Amino acid sequence: MWLYLNDKYVEHDKATISPFDRGFLFSDGIYEVVRSYPPRGFFQIEAHLERMRYGLEQLRIGGMDISKVRPIIEELLARNGHKSSQAIAYIQVTRGAYFPRQHFFPPPSTPPTLLISTSPFKPHAEEIEKGVQVLLEKDIRWSRCDIKTIALLPNILSRQRAVEQGVCETIWSRDGFITEGTHTNFCAVKGGVLLTPRKSNFILSGVTRQVVLHMCGTLNIPCSETSINESELGEFDECMIVGTTTEVTPVVKINELTIKDGMPGEITRRIQKELYRKIAGE
Ligand SMILES: Cc1ncc(COP(=O)(O)O)c(C=O)c1O
Repeated sequence: MWLYLNDKYVEHDKATISPFDRGFLFSDGIYEVVRSYPPRGFFQIEAHLERMRYGLEQLRIGGMDISKVRPIIEELLARNGHKSSQAIAYIQVTRGAYFPRQHFFPPPSTPPTLLISTSPFKPHAEEIEKGVQVLLEKDIRWSRCDIKTIALLPNILSRQRAVEQGVCETIWSRDGFITEGTHTNFCAVKGGVLLTPRKSNFILSGVTRQVVLHMCGTLNIPCSETSINESELGEFDECMIVGTTTEVTPVVKINELTIKDGMPGEITRRIQKELYRKIAGE
């Protein structure tokens, strides 16, 4: 499998990273995940690259030319034979390698480390069709969740507990209000209105979330970016998690609480259908 690392295409088993890379030592970096759907190609790649630009700016990581990312992904998809099936590109940028280890930034001449890989992706068809159960836990993350950093320990631990319980995702609440999932944003429907936590430093501004809000306009579904108290969960007619890998997945159970009749709802279905139309470029 071909990767792109530090200005070169390399076979994965020949790729090496410095032990002093700040991604390795401090999780000092950001990442993105972009999905490609043949024959149309990437979905919303510009929005993903824009979020990357924002993250780099917020973390003050310089020296990264984002315009080269797209052609590199194209080349990797071709070299890895992922052009004709659905695939994921993983892009990671760290503040580079520097010795001696120090918390403060290395000299500005230190180049960032750019890693890009691609892998085939199998859609989660059954989950998308039947809906899923999720766990609800306390959100213990820092307060800059708007940056897609590679520091993901709370996400890893919450997702692992979900996997151990045989469910697919954990959503979080902070001070009693729903924030998001470990790798998804959360939406609910009440009285025909789609609700989703408003953009803040406590959630990632999801590309799929933004697409869903836009599609609500097209579909004439009223929507509101608002606060969602966890005590309201029992009042929702529908719930869903949305994200690049999850697309729009109905949530039919949260911990032991069954949402409505435990079946994916009508508005969720309309949004799913519209998403696939959009992905197909209709
Ligand atoms: C914490 C978190 N929230 C939301 C999302 C969904 O974002 P997107 O729709 O851009 O994939 C992700 C995606 O990985 C995520 O990690």
